[in-house]
Amino acid sequence: MGRPFLIPEFRMSDLDALLEAAKADFAAAPTPAELENAKARFLGKSGRVTELMKGLAALSIEEKKTRGAEINQTKVAIEAALTARRDALAAAELEKQLKAEALDVTLPGRQRGTGGLHPITRAMERIEAIFGSMGFDVADGPEIETDWFSFSALNNPENHPARSMQDTFYVDMKDENGSWLNLRPHTSPMQIRYAQAHAKRYAGQETMPEIRVIAPGRTYRVDSDATHSPMFHQVEGLWVGENISFKDLKAVYLNFITAFFETDQLQLRFRPSYFPFTEPSAEIDIMFESGPLKGRWLEVSGSGQVHPQVIRNMGLDPERYIGFAFGSGIDRLAMLRYGVNDLRAFFDGDLRFLSQFK
Ligand code: PHE
Repeated sequence: MGRPFLIPEFRMSDLDALLEAAKADFAAAPTPAELENAKARFLGKSGRVTELMKGLAALSIEEKKTRGAEINQTKVAIEAALTARRDALAAAELEKQLKAEALDVTLPGRQRGTGGLHPITRAMERIEAIFGSMGFDVADGPEIETDWFSFSALNNPENHPARSMQDTFYVDMKDENGSWLNLRPHTSPMQIRYAQAHAKRYAGQETMPEIRVIAPGRTYRVDSDATHSPMFHQVEGLWVGENISFKDLKAVYLNFITAFFETDQLQLRFRPSYFPFTEPSAEIDIMFESGPLKGRWLEVSGSGQVHPQVIRNMGLDPERYIGFAFGSGIDRLAMLRYGVNDLRAFFDGDLRFLSQFK
């Protein structure tokens, strides 16, 4: 482009042309950076508008006035076009960004996982609440036991064949009294621990409040299949007083089991059995009269009248104190209540299984 604006008839149209050229250049700039380059070509130090201003020097005062005003008008118009293009580019950029970061508000949010109690924990809490309502205390004790509490105190002497009723995990270590350690194979040691503490607390007093306690917790045996886990759960029950009989055991257990399963539609059966620490001893079976488990006897507990030697080991006089004990499998009760047919599901930690109990 030459400089035909010096020919008077073309002046305005040249300035118009310049404005059109600036608008076209601005419009062609695809990015803010390129727009700034285009700006420099027109409004910069050696840009075309500046060049025109310099040209004024050669004009007369009168011409300077009119020509100067016209150039200035064009400059203002070019600046306006620049601002408009800047705004348009910024708006387009924003639009692009908004599209890229589009938020689909109809998608489900990312939620924080809500936990739930493990079904075994839920079963334990039910058991504690039900026995609590019958006046039973809840006790807790060590899972690493001594030979004495796991067996001897429970009238199950060393080398007695009844010890092999339980495939015990023995620990190659003795306590300070020379008693071998084991992972308790049942919760029965808690009978002794709790009753001893109770007897000690009321020693020397005329009367002793009855011992009424349950002790739920983990137990261990060398056993593993669909219905046995090397770690499982039991709840021990013990009621000792001056006149506690099998009749009380039956009433308490029936009350517990109907509350636990929330149904009267079941029967209880005591089947003669043997445990060194009870005499007589019985397995407790239950049978549902309705529902999916209807008609099958299911073993849920060992039980019996506490053996006089065990009463003695508790620090009590067997001529005065008598009572019953039971030990029930919590996992079995939970399986029956929740309709789970493989015990291992409780301990696999699979959320697809566990989240069903929330
Ligand atoms: N401890 C016994 C077992 O684990 C169950 C039991 C407890 C039996 C209390 C009688 C009395 O098999």
